[in-house]
Amino acid sequence: MAKNVNRNLEVFDMRLGAQDGSLINRHAYFDESVFERELGAIFNPSWQFVGHESEISQPGEYVTRKIMRDEVIVARSENGEIHVMLNSCRHRGVKLCSADGGKATNFQCAYHGWTYATDGRLRGVPESPTLHPSGIDRSKLGLHKARVEVFNGLIFATFNNDAAPLLDVFGDMSWYLDTVFKKTEYEAYGPPVRFIGDFNWKSGAENWCGDPYHGDVTHHTGYVAGVSYLDDMQKHVTDMQAMGAVVTNEQDASGETVFVFTADGGHAGLHFRIPAEFDRPVFPGLEKHLWTEIEQNASPDLVAGADRRIVCVSTTFPNFSVVEQLITNVGDDEFPAVSVVNVRVWLPLSATQTEVWSWLIVPKRATPAWKRASQRAFARTFNVGGVFEVDDSHNWNTTAQANRGSVGMALDNNYTALPEEPTPSSVFRGKVYRGPLHDVNFRSLYSTWVERMEAKPEPVTLVGFKTEGACEL
Ligand code: FES
Ligand SMILES: [Fe+2]
Repeated sequence: MAKNVNRNLEVFDMRLGAQDGSLINRHAYFDESVFERELGAIFNPSWQFVGHESEISQPGEYVTRKIMRDEVIVARSENGEIHVMLNSCRHRGVKLCSADGGKATNFQCAYHGWTYATDGRLRGVPESPTLHPSGIDRSKLGLHKARVEVFNGLIFATFNNDAAPLLDVFGDMSWYLDTVFKKTEYEAYGPPVRFIGDFNWKSGAENWCGDPYHGDVTHHTGYVAGVSYLDDMQKHVTDMQAMGAVVTNEQDASGETVFVFTADGGHAGLHFRIPAEFDRPVFPGLEKHLWTEIEQNASPDLVAGADRRIVCVSTTFPNFSVVEQLITNVGDDEFPAVSVVNVRVWLPLSATQTEVWSWLIVPKRATPAWKRASQRAFARTFNVGGVFEVDDSHNWNTTAQANRGSVGMALDNNYTALPEEPTPSSVFRGKVYRGPLHDVNFRSLYSTWVERMEAKPEPVTLVGFKTEGACEL
């Protein structure tokens, strides 16, 4: 018998928002009953990002992470495979591993000593012949495992047996992620940063669909402090010329300099590139030896997608966001501007609390000095104390605080701007909408959200629960 995890979802008669995602009722940001429904309708069916494979590059290495409320161990086993397993002993449910990460040959429970291999198999049961004279079937008592897919080094997992393969779920969004992570090899630069914000997860996820509308206002102080080129486009061109790139045409013939994009499935993002053409592809913020490597080794469509780009920010539905952005390093003579790749998960703890897990990702073959410069740029902008993060968190937190009352809750948030038609593009995938100021990207996320929240809940079959009581390993 299938196990139905949508147990809280029998009746839900609240109007959540317009079908096209243009208006969203503010209950969606503050109401715990909405959040409980999201767990079943949005998150349990989804693939969740749990780490970068470079974090566990050697057999036996592991990190501990979360898939919503379930704590998991992400481990590379002795044969090199990656496993994502519930961090819970099969005996009486004690948390198996309390460390953030490390290297192990076995995981031994601190309570009675049951011991598991790094691939989850139950290896040791102390006093087993005495306690279980007729034997114990260890094959059914291994750690409970999730499905795993690795995409460009990014590890995703789900406990949903019925989830479509990852690339089917990502659709055209996978190409935009390829333009970040497939143009060269990347690795995590240290462990993820974690912090808890007093905001709803959707406030972060929607903003990272690309919201240049807020930049000049929210991040004005940061721009004045010189962390971004976004208020000085000509300086991009000058700096790229200083790195040896030859400008052939200062107008962008394609017209696709700044645009937002959407992909079926609720994914969306913003793409921003230098409005000038160069005689060769340029990859702002990366060291020159990587320009050559990317041009020679990456596929032509990825080169065309990443060429001249200074910002690509996106949310892959529902809660996985990525930014690749050129950041200035004021006072750094060696690397006055570097790119920062920040990967993050908006992990909801409740309707009004979100735990942000945030990784700095760097090109593997960048020099150590460049990687440190990227880390400094990250610290000044998107890290927990960075100016962008502080500015944004303030808005999201006050949104949660200002609308808890019965009146505020009854209002709608507005995503009605620019109902434009997409522009055909020979390079870029999904739907492309020219210009920076749209709400169509937010409507992509929210129309999917409304559709799934209002659909009759389908039972979700948990991995390992096809047959009641059995655990498939
Ligand atoms: S709870 Fe883990 S060995 Fe008993
Ligand atoms: Fe922002």
